[in-house]
Amino acid sequence: MGDLVRVGLLALVLGVLLACGSESSSPQEADGEAGSGADAPGDGDGPAAGAPDVLPCDVAEVVVNNCLRCHGDEPIGGAIKLVTHEDWHRASPLYDPDKMVYEVAQIRINNGEMPQGATMSESDLEVLDAWLEAGAAAGVEDDVECVAALPDPPVATGSPADRDADDSCNREGANDPIVPRDDETCYEFLTHGQSGVDDTSKFQVPQGESYHEIYYDVPWESTDLMTRFGGDLDNLEVLHHYLIFTSNNTRQVPGDVARNVPGTTLGTQATLIGGWAVGGCGQELPEDVGGELPASELVMIQWHMFNTTGAEAEDGSKLQICVVPEGSREHVAGVTFLGTENFGGFAGMPPGENHFTTRCRNDSGGPVTLMGFTPHMHLIGTNMKTEVERLDGTLETIFDKPFDFDYQVGYQLPERVVVEDGETLVTTCSYFNDTGSNVGFGESTDSEMCYNYVAYYPSGVLNKSAFSLIGALNTCW
Ligand code: HEC
Repeated sequence: MGDLVRVGLLALVLGVLLACGSESSSPQEADGEAGSGADAPGDGDGPAAGAPDVLPCDVAEVVVNNCLRCHGDEPIGGAIKLVTHEDWHRASPLYDPDKMVYEVAQIRINNGEMPQGATMSESDLEVLDAWLEAGAAAGVEDDVECVAALPDPPVATGSPADRDADDSCNREGANDPIVPRDDETCYEFLTHGQSGVDDTSKFQVPQGESYHEIYYDVPWESTDLMTRFGGDLDNLEVLHHYLIFTSNNTRQVPGDVARNVPGTTLGTQATLIGGWAVGGCGQELPEDVGGELPASELVMIQWHMFNTTGAEAEDGSKLQICVVPEGSREHVAGVTFLGTENFGGFAGMPPGENHFTTRCRNDSGGPVTLMGFTPHMHLIGTNMKTEVERLDGTLETIFDKPFDFDYQVGYQLPERVVVEDGETLVTTCSYFNDTGSNVGFGESTDSEMCYNYVAYYPSGVLNKSAFSLIGALNTCW
């Protein structure tokens, strides 16, 4: 919550500065406060007559760098266009129709929801917040040329300049369809519309926000090692995020298309093997590592679609998972869950702030090397942290990220972390329960989960075969 508190304080400070400055008669204030509203759309803060439909150039630069890779001329993942002045001065279509888009933007940049999955620099936040606070006035004639000369926004399918340095999407071609290398076999998982293994019809994407699960046969040999996943994303306008699980789920058969499934119906022995969210990319394991593929019966791909096009849409994305034969990588990595399913017993967690801390000790007799984490919680999850308790008792934080259900991604550690025999992984899931009632563990989104999937090698040594994490506070899955 530290970041949010800081951002909140900053907004407060800015608010005070603006209040002091409002006596001045800058052109922006003249529009906002004293303008006759001759051509303002309703709330009196539109552009002055004849003002160009651009943003002031300094604001436009911040918007280009932080927002337009999702909110550009062709918005992705359910976002809306935020390019021209007019785009900011219309009723908010998604969030609150009683507010203007720029008013919603001010709320969402200050509560940390936007830019989704990234953080703005404090100076950028200041520029944008001050402009929004003053009524988001249009630019002047001089801004037209300046705005036109700004560089293109970072693309969603490449190396977005504004991402974290430790974000592995920061590389060329990060979202291109995968071309198998000599030693690789890549399997395709088509997003299709009707149940049946041979169906190739497009998936009909309903309007608004929706979750769907599509099931596939496991195509690889159980001894194969995963090298990477990604694929050919078809309709980026409506794709919000996907998670790839393998599991045994006796309720489903390969080819099944389960539409409108809220929550995550994992079945048994579920393992998360990949994930992507709007603005993200496919992932690749380091050259010396292959990922063990769990011996499961089904692959399940969960899609979160967000269709704001105003009509039904279609998608035919083809995800790819690539493997190499056993023995072709120096290290074999596996995945285990850290976390808990116990949120205060049957009662569940009470309203307000909640933290659940669990311990997983390396009893394997040797070192374990950690490579990355993928947190998974539901709607009220706020933060995931994993520390290593070293042999001398010190706690070292190796992973600490805010959690956003609408932006679930995996994180590679900037450097691999070695956990010696006898050392313990201490994992804390944090929640802000604003539902007004207790929330327990469960698969639907109105109940909660607390899993920090960790990729590590040698595979298997941290897995303690706990049947369920309920009540098992001091173990790993
Ligand atoms: C990685 C993609 C991404 C980035 C970057 C991003 N957004 Fe968004 N934004 C979305 C998506 C997806 C939605 C629709 C889902 C939602 O409302 O959460 C959205 C919704 C919004 C909305 C709500 C629109 C409405 O109807 O009121 C506003 C306002 C907004 N974003 C502002 C911003 C601003 C300002 C920035 C830059 C500082 C930004 N966003 C950066 C993805 C993004």
